[in-house]
Amino acid sequence: MRLILGIETSCDETAAAVYDSKNQKILSNVLHSQIKLHEKYGGVVPEIASRSHLARIKSIVEQALEEAALSFDAIDTIAVTTKPGLAGSLLVGLSYAKGLAWAGNKKLVGIDHLEGHLFSSMLQADGTKRDEHSFPYLALSMSGGHTSLYLVYSNQKYEIIGQTIDDAGGEAFDKVARMLGLPYPGGPHIEKKAEKINFQDFFKYPRVRLKNAKLNFSFSGLKTAVLYDLMKRGWYDLKKNRPTSNLTEENVQQVASSLLVCIADIVINHIKDALVLYPEIKGVTFIGGVACNKYIKGRIEQYTKARKLFTISPIPSFCVDNAAMIAYAASLSQTQSKESDWYLDIF
Ligand code: KG4
Ligand code: ZN
Repeated sequence: MRLILGIETSCDETAAAVYDSKNQKILSNVLHSQIKLHEKYGGVVPEIASRSHLARIKSIVEQALEEAALSFDAIDTIAVTTKPGLAGSLLVGLSYAKGLAWAGNKKLVGIDHLEGHLFSSMLQADGTKRDEHSFPYLALSMSGGHTSLYLVYSNQKYEIIGQTIDDAGGEAFDKVARMLGLPYPGGPHIEKKAEKINFQDFFKYPRVRLKNAKLNFSFSGLKTAVLYDLMKRGWYDLKKNRPTSNLTEENVQQVASSLLVCIADIVINHIKDALVLYPEIKGVTFIGGVACNKYIKGRIEQYTKARKLFTISPIPSFCVDNAAMIAYAASLSQTQSKESDWYLDIF
């Protein structure tokens, strides 16, 4: 199995990519983001997402083949995200992939989206595969839908050693951004505001640590702490569900910066705790949408460098939801079987 067409539609990105597993290179990585459609609702609206996937999927797949300079005949395998995600959105990608595989007599492979993120750290900026990381390593995957800490022993063997018990890390950025009247998704806007005041920590929000499960995360308390603090200062009107006119640009920067520093501290605390529990760890990978954040990435690098550990984080287009990571994950998971799983489902 050499040329793999990846398809990803689990949330609000319609994406397709081609991976050449013989030459170990991503040949194309095409993405259509639905941000503009969901922005005014402050989050992803599932029905709008699946309808938009339906309208786009054909042209996105065609574009991925065109950019890879390949005809559909050349593809051997179709890899598609089957979980986790929005049911309607996943069904669009899976049904389309099944149809293509059936009509073109291709092998069909189902991929777990989180496994796609996990191994996206292997993809370098030019699309080539990097040399294997030293095992075992720690992987922190943080996005709008999930936050998990993995101990990775090999490309086939890994375990989750920590995860969020409530909100995802990206969700904390998105929700606080909304309280500040910033657009969705909030992470990049929070980072830009924080940068303006050089990442100072004004309000010292709580660095939540769970007593009995130190490697698990909890972000909902942080979100509530920020909300209460905003209300106390007269910057947020809970009844109207929006910031008050007292909230100045300077205040927005202070809140954004304090939140970012707080989340970065929480991340470092988790890495610290993981290293105590698993001293055999050789390095850290940082993946998922939040890994686009240069400040958090810099803090992780600073921490690991001092301890002679490696840090790897892919370029932003491989951090956010994308199909390159799905096609690449398929190259790792392909079994000896040449058979397609026609009963593949989204659960
Ligand atoms: O991986 P992704 O594209 O989709 C999900 O699977 O959720 O991640 C999107 C999330 C959003 O919550 C967004 O606010 C966050 O990643 N994000 C960031 C940054 N860029 C994206 N968070 C913090 N800083 C950023 N620069
Ligand atoms: Zn994702």
